[in-house]
Amino acid sequence: MTLWSGRFSSSMDATLWDLSESYSFDHVLYHHDIMGSKAHVRGLEVAGLLNSEEVTALLGALEDIEAEFDRGVFVRSGSDEDIHTAIERRATEMLGETGAKIHTARSRNDQIATTMRLFTREALGDVASLVLEFVEALRRLGEANEDAVLPGYTHLQRAQPVLLSHHLDAHAWALLRDVDRLLDARRRLNVSPLGAGALAGTSLGIDPAFSAGLLGFREAFANSMDAVSDRDFVAEALFDVALLGVHLSRMGEELVLWTSAEFNFASLGDEYTTGSSMLPQKKNSDVAELARAKAGRLIGNLTSLLVVLKGLPLSYNRDLQEDKEPLFDSIRQVRLVLAALTGAYSSLEFHADVAATAASDSYLVAIDLAEGLVREGVPFRQAHERVGQLVAEALVLGVPLVDLVQASDDLARFADLFEPGASLVHRSSPGASGPLARSIQRDRLGSEVERLRGRLTLEGAPA
Ligand code: ARG
Repeated sequence: MTLWSGRFSSSMDATLWDLSESYSFDHVLYHHDIMGSKAHVRGLEVAGLLNSEEVTALLGALEDIEAEFDRGVFVRSGSDEDIHTAIERRATEMLGETGAKIHTARSRNDQIATTMRLFTREALGDVASLVLEFVEALRRLGEANEDAVLPGYTHLQRAQPVLLSHHLDAHAWALLRDVDRLLDARRRLNVSPLGAGALAGTSLGIDPAFSAGLLGFREAFANSMDAVSDRDFVAEALFDVALLGVHLSRMGEELVLWTSAEFNFASLGDEYTTGSSMLPQKKNSDVAELARAKAGRLIGNLTSLLVVLKGLPLSYNRDLQEDKEPLFDSIRQVRLVLAALTGAYSSLEFHADVAATAASDSYLVAIDLAEGLVREGVPFRQAHERVGQLVAEALVLGVPLVDLVQASDDLARFADLFEPGASLVHRSSPGASGPLARSIQRDRLGSEVERLRGRLTLEGAPA
């Protein structure tokens, strides 16, 4: 029997059933759905719609049902369309009439909106905390290779030598913005839709603020129609995860390059690489390739939800059921990538000698030469021109730039800029990649990590 059999004379066609049932994927919401139902039951008591025996019985049944799910022994009945119907059906089976009261003053529309917010709130916190662990792995790698230098690139052409720690921190800053964004989304979604009913509230005198408080929501909805039709929080979560995925994808691409024989800047631990079924010598960075690839799916999930939402008339529409699989998938995928990349970077061996050789390419000092002239009062454009001529000459003659500098009258005094590390030492401006600016950045990054850890725990704990 369906929840609405009163009005209907024939049962649903099997094709519609197959199209519309969502239990097959939304059963994973059982914990959050039961959380919402418990708060609802207590709200019904305060409103005088349930007596205390009924409340005790219902709360007990909900706990038993949750335990059945936890142990994997919950049995779906053929008529359980979604997680909500399954739980209500089971409660009614256990308690008879009392169970049949659980859906008083509630619709699945406010119920699913509540459940999804509770699920997403927890998931965003979990992802944020995995990102922070990943950032820690990057910081450890930078610290373990404190003096390591590599070429910094623009247009994938060698540009200037940079510290490995500075390079890794560049990724870390992007990831910390992701954490901040995930926590912003979590703060914004922390509003309870419970009590909005199907779309317009109820005449039964329940207090949405009461259940909101029990569920650790900051407040209850202001508008019942908005409450049941709003999935902005899912779209935001999907965007935040997609952008995080884009950052992880860029890192994946970089790891693919670094671990290639052409770059040879790094190797990953055997436990984070794969072999080839045919070519015995192969050691492949599949972890990095999959990190690179998953962004496609994360972006796809965001796109699919936005397209579902566009053009929907107020208020609840069944289309909204399509919010779940993209969200579940994105959360699952990004967690897989974060966990594997954290391990992969922890296993990474940086080939400091190879990277240093690449960074000692004498053309990378060209800007330092020009800046040396500028410090002596030469206008920058003239300094640039002069060094540019010298570079052109070196290219034509096929000799290292430093040889021409040593041989020239006007530049020979700058030859010591070509000593290993000299270019970095001079680069002391705030936020620059040099040892002097380095310690300031390290502290700043550390404070940001602490601030975000505070946000994660303080704002996250439901009452
Ligand atoms: N499974 C539904 C969803 O995910 C629950 C709400 C159903 N509401 C309805 N009026 N059919 O959106």
